Amino acid sequence: MFGSTSSDLGIDLGTCNTIIYIRNKGIVLNEPSVVAVELGTKKIVAVGADAKRMLCKTPGHIRTIRPLRDGVIADLESTEKMIRYFISRVLPRYRFIKPRMVVGIPSCITEVERRAVEESAYKAGAREVIVIEESLAAAIGADIPINEPAGHMVCDIGGGTTEISVISLGGMVVTNAIRLGGDEFDEAIIKYVRMVNNLIIGQQMAEHLKIEIGNAVPDKNIEEIEVKGTNAANGLPQRFKIGSDQIREALRDPINQIIDNIKSTLGQTPPELAADIVERGIVMTGGGSLLKGLDKLIASETGVPVFIADRPLDCVALGAGKYFDYTRGVDSSKNIYDSLNG
Ligand SMILES: Nc1ncnc2c1ncn2[C@@H]1O[C@H](COP(=O)(O)OP(=O)(O)OP(=O)(O)O)[C@@H](O)[C@H]1O
Ligand SMILES: [Mg+2]
Repeated sequence: MFGSTSSDLGIDLGTCNTIIYIRNKGIVLNEPSVVAVELGTKKIVAVGADAKRMLCKTPGHIRTIRPLRDGVIADLESTEKMIRYFISRVLPRYRFIKPRMVVGIPSCITEVERRAVEESAYKAGAREVIVIEESLAAAIGADIPINEPAGHMVCDIGGGTTEISVISLGGMVVTNAIRLGGDEFDEAIIKYVRMVNNLIIGQQMAEHLKIEIGNAVPDKNIEEIEVKGTNAANGLPQRFKIGSDQIREALRDPINQIIDNIKSTLGQTPPELAADIVERGIVMTGGGSLLKGLDKLIASETGVPVFIADRPLDCVALGAGKYFDYTRGVDSSKNIYDSLNG
């Protein structure tokens, strides 16, 4: 009875978004990883999309937190509460069989943080919890045959982290995780506008510019957007126009860091597996992979073809939810050879 997998949960505990996938149901939750807390009492007043709406607009007694900023758990207590709240939203209150949960987390997280995530999932009602690196989950979610004896490269660009991994035979052969992702792209835009236009814009405006007109390689048409900001000199509100070429200039630094890391991961890859990657290409997942032209730029800088996964934002949750299928495959193949091992 307990072998039933119909209610296995795959959770992508991302620094920007938390996504939950349930077998046979699909994606059942997709919310920003944000919590609003009342100062003093530490009472949680909102979680997810409700809390994100309050970001930067909260009255003095409420603080909005992104508990997983930069790929580390900045606030353990809020992270626990957030996980428990999200899971409680998707699970019926009284259950006969407790679900198994696979949680995808950034690989740069510490052992203590990993245990805290596990603990929160148990408290939320899991009977078994497995915490896995998000790039392994992303690879499964992108339908990469991870158990093959062949090299596959996945590059997951999230909000707070970028993970570049080479996977073969169900395991990670090389992995490089850096604390840089879409959040840094936004920060770079804020800095650029401040320096070049002498204007202050908020994070949400910067993200909007990145998604709407940002690109990593020049496009035929230069798109422009009208932006509202605050003049840094006199503090007055001001409108101004910004173009895609300026956003590209602003993003040059963080994008180059990602490309350097891809190159060094390729350099650390054993030659046989590197040859597979050159043939099969690099698969990109995570929201950052959607930046226009980034796939083309990475392909031209590395000489390796680049593909964006079908559902780049959902890959980690989908892969976490399907993780048991893959581990069973590995286990059963091991069993065949058990007699040879005495
Ligand atoms: N079309 C787009 N173009 C550029 N960036 C995008 C686009 N859509 C989403 N993003 C960015 O993707 C990031 C969020 O991606 P994702 O949901 O994969 O992150 P996460 O899994 O929460 O974070 P992490 O993996 O670092 O823990 C945000 O920075 C967001 O601005
Ligand atoms: Mg992610």
